[in-house]
Amino acid sequence: LITDIRLRRILDSRGNPTVEADVVTESGGFGRAAAPSGASTGEYEAVERPPGEAIAAAREHAVPRLVGEVYAGNQRDVDAALHAADGTDDFSEIGANSAVAISMAAAKAGADVLGAPLFQHLGGTFRGENFPIPLGNVVGGGEHAADATDIQEFLAAPVGAPSVADAVFANAAVHAAVADLLEERDVPCGKGDEGAWAPSIDDGEAFDVVAEAVSMVQDEVGFNIGFGLDVAGAELYDSVSGTYEYSDVSRDTDEQIEYIAELVEEYDLVYVEDPLDEDDYDAFADLTDEVGDQTLICGDDLFVTNTDRLIEGIDRGAANSILIKPNQIGTLTDAFDAIELATENGYDSVVSHRSGETEDATIAHLAVATDAPFIKTGAVGGERTAKLNELIRIADDAT
Ligand code: PGA
Ligand code: ZN
Repeated sequence: LITDIRLRRILDSRGNPTVEADVVTESGGFGRAAAPSGASTGEYEAVERPPGEAIAAAREHAVPRLVGEVYAGNQRDVDAALHAADGTDDFSEIGANSAVAISMAAAKAGADVLGAPLFQHLGGTFRGENFPIPLGNVVGGGEHAADATDIQEFLAAPVGAPSVADAVFANAAVHAAVADLLEERDVPCGKGDEGAWAPSIDDGEAFDVVAEAVSMVQDEVGFNIGFGLDVAGAELYDSVSGTYEYSDVSRDTDEQIEYIAELVEEYDLVYVEDPLDEDDYDAFADLTDEVGDQTLICGDDLFVTNTDRLIEGIDRGAANSILIKPNQIGTLTDAFDAIELATENGYDSVVSHRSGETEDATIAHLAVATDAPFIKTGAVGGERTAKLNELIRIADDAT
């Protein structure tokens, strides 16, 4: 039984305050978790409130429904209590940041009571044996860095890696190779919010550099490394003109679909996230028709980890993959349900960090627990390596 919940403001990786929750149980179980925070957030995400307000509202409404009332190990009860306490359909009362921090902290406390690792508690005995392939952000711009690429993320995808650890090290090697190639080209650059290089180059040059870096590292490691993109299309889309606005060109929806299809062909892309606007299921369906048998077309802002939006996508043939961000929907139960629905319908789940992160490593356990084929959690930087190193540890323990 949950006997205490403490909520506090801590720092995230951007230096902004975020919500951290501690959950304590009667039998001495303890769990601590923190909410991440997006910058290129989808319009249909659950609502993140300013941390001070979210904490005050959660103390008033959620804590009394949980303390002395619910077992930390009963995740569905915990998350149902959070929904009941909030009373809205988008967590705009207690904040999705308070909700997700409490939901994840309760899961950790539940695991602690059982003396089981979190992935085991969440996934259970009949959990699959697979480990997610990490997608590593190596070059980026968009909302994550000023004066860098239009496309938000260029991602290394070590699909042929024999182990999680090999994949994690390969992504870091691609990240390092990109730096070498940029230096050769005399392109100075810092890093964006997720630790990817943020050079002031156009997307065409970024494709050249990433393709070369991937092929260099592939030769070194001897397994297949592909690459992918998060276009973050909703950020490029101008709904008034109906066009995707790049620095040097503007594309209407048909041109955007053709452009992405050409990129898939030219670079053999294994993964393309949010190539189109978050409201345009039809365009997602057209692109999926065209290249969906060669590549993953993933909905992030399109689906926002929401089963209602995923059902719409499944009905209309939009995308073949879904990004899973627990804070987009507010609880682990909702994230689990989205993964389950995706899997039943042949959509690959990609469990994901946010651009604003903490040391919290819950998503590594969530990805392993649910047998998700991919995890997207950066390539370097402490708040990213917290998850990547946890994956390596889980694999080491479990095999
Ligand atoms: P965000 O970006 O966390 O800033 O929303 C990540 C993404 O779009 O995948
Ligand atoms: Zn995205």
